[in-house]
Amino acid sequence: MWPGGKPIIFFSILALVDAGDEVIYPNPGFPIYESMINYVGGKAVPIPLREERDFSLDVKELASLINDRTKLIILNSPHNPTGGVLTKKDILEIAEAIGDRKRHDSFGRNLQPPDLRGRRLLPSWSVPGFKERTIMLDGFSKTYAMTGWRMGYGVMRPDLALHISRLMTNSNSCTASFTQIAGIEALKGDQASVDKMSDEFRRRRDVFVAGLNKIKGFSCRMPKGAFYAFPNITKTGWPSKKLADALLDQAGVACLSGTAFGEYGEGYLRFSVANSLENLNKALTRIQEWVGKNLAVIQSLVVGRQPLAKAMLRTTNATRAGVDSSRYDTYRSSSARKFLLDRTRHNRPEGRQEFLQFLIWLGSPGLSDGP
Ligand SMILES: Cc1ncc(COP(=O)(O)O)c(C=O)c1O
Repeated sequence: MWPGGKPIIFFSILALVDAGDEVIYPNPGFPIYESMINYVGGKAVPIPLREERDFSLDVKELASLINDRTKLIILNSPHNPTGGVLTKKDILEIAEAIGDRKRHDSFGRNLQPPDLRGRRLLPSWSVPGFKERTIMLDGFSKTYAMTGWRMGYGVMRPDLALHISRLMTNSNSCTASFTQIAGIEALKGDQASVDKMSDEFRRRRDVFVAGLNKIKGFSCRMPKGAFYAFPNITKTGWPSKKLADALLDQAGVACLSGTAFGEYGEGYLRFSVANSLENLNKALTRIQEWVGKNLAVIQSLVVGRQPLAKAMLRTTNATRAGVDSSRYDTYRSSSARKFLLDRTRHNRPEGRQEFLQFLIWLGSPGLSDGP
C-alpha cells in the first residue's frame, strides 16, 4: 500500500530507470510519466495515441519503438486523458512484441475497462515470464472516490517491492493506518455503488459527448472508458491552451488543454464528467454561447484556409483583449473561481473510476544496480 497511485509510479521509475535508459509511455498521457522519466535522466519515448484509432495503442508501432535500451513500457487503461482502452488482445500482442527480452519491465496502471468491473484484465500475467516483470498498480481515488484519502497499491516481485518500499519508508514512512482500514471497508463492502456510479458516468458521458459534438469546431469521439471527454478542437483554429484558458476565464468552464498531457495533446481539450448532469449541461450551454460569440467569424475561414484563419484569429484576439477586458476581469474574480470551488466539491463524491496501470519492466532480472 502506498499513499496514492502516484508514489508507486514515482518510486518505480526512480528505482528502475537509469540515465540513458529509454522508457516508452503513452502520449498524450498522465503527466507524471514524462516528468519522472526526464527527472531521472532517462529518454522519454512517446507512443502516440491517435484519435483515428479511438486513442487505442498501435501495438505494431509500440513494437517498432522497443530496442536494447528500452527499460520500461508504461501502459494505462482506461486512459487518462483520452478514455481509450486496451483490450485483452492488445495486451497479449504487447506481451508477444516484447518477447523474452531480458531488459524490459512493464509498468501498468489501471487496466480495466469500466464495464468489466470486478473482472481484472491481467492477461499478460498469464504469459510465462511476465508476472515477474510487470508492476500492476491501481488506487482507491477513482473507484471509491477516495482521492483525498491517499491510497494506492502496487503488485510486483517481492525483491523489487523491497527496494521500492525502502524509498517509500525513507520518504512518506507509510500509508496512514486509519485510511487503510477505510480502504479495507471499501473493498469488503457492497460494490453496488461502484457499478451504479459507472452507469451514471456512462449516462453523463453520453450526454456530454453528444453536446460537444453540436458545438461548432468541436468533434468528440465516444470514449470507451474513464470519465473524461477529449474533443478535437482544431477546427476552432485556436491552440488548445489558449482555448482552455479562455473557456475558464470568459465562460467559467474548467477544462484542461490537451497539451497538459504531452505534445500529442495539441488540438484537444480534456473535460471531466465527474460532475452533475445539471452542471455538465450548464457547461455545454456556456461553451456553446462563448463559441457563438467568439468563433463565428473564424469558423467559416478555418476549413482549408488555415493561414488566413490564424491571421484573423490574432486580430480578433487582440481586439477582444482591448474591448472585453472588464468582462474578463469580472469572470476571473468571481464566476471562474466560484465554478472551480463548486467543481472541487462536486468532484469528491462522484470521482469513481479506475485507472489501472502497468509498467512492463524490460530490465535485467537482478536489481544489483537498484537503490
Ligand atoms: C492514470 C492516473 N494515474 C494516477 C493517478 C493519480 O492517482 P492517485 O490519486 O491514486 O495518486 C491518476 C489520477 O488522476 C490517473 O488518472
